[in-house]
Amino acid sequence: MSVGRNVIVVGAQWGDEGKGKVVDLLTERSAAVVRFQGGHNAGHTLVIDGHKTVLHLIPSGVLHPGVQCLIGNGVVLSLAALDEELDMLAGAGVPARDQVRISPACPLILPSHIALDQARERARGGQAIGTTGRGIGPAYEDKVARRGVRFVDLVDPARAEAQLRELIDYHNFLLTAQFGVAAVDVEASVSQTLEQAARNLPLMADITATLAALRRDGANVLFEGAQGSLLDVDHGTYPYVTSSNTTAGGAATGSGVGPTWFDHVLGIVKAYTTRVGGGPFPTELHEEPGPHLANRGREVGATTGRARRCGWLDAVALRRAMVNNGVSGLCITKLDVLDELETIEICVGYRTASGKMLDELPAGAAALAPCEPVLERHPGWRQSTLGVRRWEALPEAAQAYLRRIETLLEVPIELVSTGAEREDTIVLRHPFD
Ligand code: IMP
Repeated sequence: MSVGRNVIVVGAQWGDEGKGKVVDLLTERSAAVVRFQGGHNAGHTLVIDGHKTVLHLIPSGVLHPGVQCLIGNGVVLSLAALDEELDMLAGAGVPARDQVRISPACPLILPSHIALDQARERARGGQAIGTTGRGIGPAYEDKVARRGVRFVDLVDPARAEAQLRELIDYHNFLLTAQFGVAAVDVEASVSQTLEQAARNLPLMADITATLAALRRDGANVLFEGAQGSLLDVDHGTYPYVTSSNTTAGGAATGSGVGPTWFDHVLGIVKAYTTRVGGGPFPTELHEEPGPHLANRGREVGATTGRARRCGWLDAVALRRAMVNNGVSGLCITKLDVLDELETIEICVGYRTASGKMLDELPAGAAALAPCEPVLERHPGWRQSTLGVRRWEALPEAAQAYLRRIETLLEVPIELVSTGAEREDTIVLRHPFD
């Protein structure tokens, strides 16, 4: 019997590390790709033969014919976003409805969750988290409070209608009484949700059982993280985080298989750092080369179109991410964005307001707010690495920069991504080997 491998792919920074491309590439050797947390707040961009596809909810393996795309119980499910994405893919000739399966236990995101997300953000004013406004936080709140409506609840329309009314009435109370904004239309929300259910319930499947069957068959499976480690609700820069466990442990709880089933954790690290939304960012560059990185790296949010904040690589935060995720191998992305720089810096410590030096990110990472980065300077390579496919073909200074990252993070580099296309990748060790 052949033995398959379960590989987790996670972002090690604040998201937007380029996971979509890597997942798409690794899917060549997977029977299934699983989303285990987040929702349609994610934006995974794939470029194949120059054609760009942006996915928010459906796993990034969908463009590979026959690959199963599984949405685990840890994902908050917007049926409107699902319909939109399935239609977009069908229009492009991708039979996504045949490939996508969704856990019965996914909590639903309703229009009133979106209204609440936006009302809360407005009420926070200058302290706004900068959410994607997709209703993610309120949907997870309802899940944990045990009043959410789950995908499986829609199987019984009469009961679902009563559950939906009760939940939306509660949301409307908050919207009007607490935030002084308009209530959502209960009738329209209920009827729309029941219509979406009729269309999409055939996609419901026991994801845990599916994963158990794949394991028996010796199949490789990829677990696709969304957002990044520093946006994890427990380990990130709270409260400027998303509402799920973005770290690797979420792959177990969010899909229903235990930790001993995982073989490898691939940490995706962008060669510099970006962050979208509010919150601390010690290595942020407000002046050049920040705008240069933003421009060359096309650092605009795939979900909200917002400009991403840019800065140097932060090895202190990354070292914590290696531990939080148990990263076994690294994939460095967007190396080519640094091609024109004369000097490249890496943050190797934080100096606190009281002058104390830290080389570890403290627990409860929000504490890093008043820190100054201690930066190490490296010479740039001033030549193109775009599309380089062999390690030996990289300029020496680029090799040295990558080796320095490896040393600082104490984790080997397995992949280097040098462009948006699948083929623009240096593979030193394949995570499925
Ligand atoms: P939420 O997930 O919409 O609640 O947003 C919470 C925080 O996570 C905000 O700072 C968002 O900008 C950030 N965020 C959510 N999804 C992504 C993503 O896919 N990439 C990068 N940041 C994200």
